[in-house]
Amino acid sequence: MSVRQFSLLLLAAASLQLPAVAQQATSAASPVWPPVSEAAAPSQGEVLFAVTCGRCHRAGGMGTGILSRRPGIVAGGLLEQREDLIVPFVQTVVRRGSGNMPRISRGEVSDPELALIAAYLAKEKK
Ligand code: HEC
Repeated sequence: MSVRQFSLLLLAAASLQLPAVAQQATSAASPVWPPVSEAAAPSQGEVLFAVTCGRCHRAGGMGTGILSRRPGIVAGGLLEQREDLIVPFVQTVVRRGSGNMPRISRGEVSDPELALIAAYLAKEKK
């Protein structure tokens, strides 16, 4: 292969990388290199849910256990697998508490953070 052919090959390979590079430059969502696809990266709402709600509401959590015993509850009590959650319901439960769930103040979870968590549980694309 000549030097010219080789540099053309390099150019072609570099241009294949361009969309990923452009995405990296414009999006702060992916701090890792190489950039992970949007589908693979957890949303902000999912990350916040895991940090603030996960210890009670993921598998083995106290909230999951209590909800799984409630009549009519599907998805094994796992909030993330439910299809019936809507944003205002999640926000109200979190701010007021519900049964064995303590209320969570704005000092612990801000309104914008709660909006992201609620949208994640309501399966709204953010
Ligand atoms: C200390 C544990 C705990 C934490 C932390 C917690 N929850 Fe809960 N949650 C519970 C329990 C327990 C229940 C069930 C309440 C009951 O019926 O007694 C519940 C119920 C709920 C419900 C109502 C489900 C229904 O169908 O009635 C929602 C929605 C909810 N939690 C959302 C959240 C979100 C969002 C967070 C994080 C911001 C969170 N919870 C953090 C323990 C917790």
